Amino acid sequence: MLVNISLKQVIDNSYDITIDTLPKLYFDTKVAIVTNGTISKLHLEYLKSKVSAKELIVVTLNDGEEYKNQESIDSILEALFEHRFNRKSMLIAFGGGVIGDMTGFAASIYQRGIDFIQIPTTLLSQVDASVGGKTGMNNKYGKNLIGAFHQPKAVYIDPYFLTTLPVREFGAGVAEIVKMAVTFNKDFFEFLEKADLKNPEVLQEAIKQAVQTKASVVAQDEKEHGVRAALNYGHTFGHVIENETKYKKYLHGEAVAIGMVMANETAVKMNLMSADDALKVKSLLEKYNLPTSYCIQNSQKFYETFFLDKKSSDASITFIIPNGIGDFQITDKVEKDLVISVLDSFGDS
Ligand SMILES: NC(=O)c1ccc[n+]([C@@H]2O[C@H](COP(=O)([O-])OP(=O)(O)OC[C@H]3O[C@@H](n4cnc5c(N)ncnc54)[C@H](O)[C@@H]3O)[C@@H](O)[C@H]2O)c1
Repeated sequence: MLVNISLKQVIDNSYDITIDTLPKLYFDTKVAIVTNGTISKLHLEYLKSKVSAKELIVVTLNDGEEYKNQESIDSILEALFEHRFNRKSMLIAFGGGVIGDMTGFAASIYQRGIDFIQIPTTLLSQVDASVGGKTGMNNKYGKNLIGAFHQPKAVYIDPYFLTTLPVREFGAGVAEIVKMAVTFNKDFFEFLEKADLKNPEVLQEAIKQAVQTKASVVAQDEKEHGVRAALNYGHTFGHVIENETKYKKYLHGEAVAIGMVMANETAVKMNLMSADDALKVKSLLEKYNLPTSYCIQNSQKFYETFFLDKKSSDASITFIIPNGIGDFQITDKVEKDLVISVLDSFGDS
């Protein structure tokens, strides 16, 4: 006997991303703002003045990547149950990527899924984490290993929030902007070379272009079966650097900056990128005080650590290698000897 369940469906998960001063937001449902103590001290009153809801609660989590865990997810869910949130209720993620990822994940599992909105407050989360529906948390086996694809209903990017962002956090966001330009858009890269991102109008334009890039990639490949993997440019090397330095020395974007330089050196050795283009990327990163060198003590050990990355299959390592500026290839066919020779060249940096 065979029973077939027909589940073919057309789902429209489209949503708008507004890059402007936060508008007034009206909800005829219960709403929970999920944030942390740092952001709430700086900006919660402003956000509350913009939100009108049937009932508004605030869930304040501890600040830090180390709290991107089950306990924090449980405290979000607990608050929703206590306040009798139902399937029509709404969450607002108000913070950086850590808050955004956890709020989205809690929304994806509360009563099998409710809606949420992203109001990102770091540059990294404005240009990258808030767009695309990847949600999740860390556990003892690694980062973001538990999660779900759950798209927000809307994203509101208000550059005003960035006025309180620490300088290093700003730089970490710039690294992700450079990532989008090098992989997908040469004109955008040339714009960035001339731009001064400290100028609010120029910054807003850069955010717009980065978000457009990310949105178009996600629209083509929501679940990362293909082109979306290019957004991991710099991350294969960066994750090893974060791992070796126990996630303490570098912010994620800083490790990615060094990782991009390493990927570019690999591309140069493969004759896919000119040394001149590699230098241009390095100079752009250095303009925003991002680190571009890293002393590798043991290339063999560094190479082995690639295999801890969940994005590498057991037998091979996937690299995102730029084909010049504005194009890339995703490959698991880079010769080990070539990678080791690149890693060796960082041994004396
Ligand atoms: N979902 C995705 O597609 C995606 C993409 C990239 C990164 N991420 C995730 O994003 C996280 C990193 O995000 P992040 O870089 O935003 O880090 P974060 O969320 O930890 O924020 C960095 C720090 O800045 C503080 N902060 C936030 N907004 C501020 C403001 N306006 N003024 C002053 N301080 C402010 C935060 O409290 C925190 O201390 C990681 O967990 C990463 O896995 C997700």
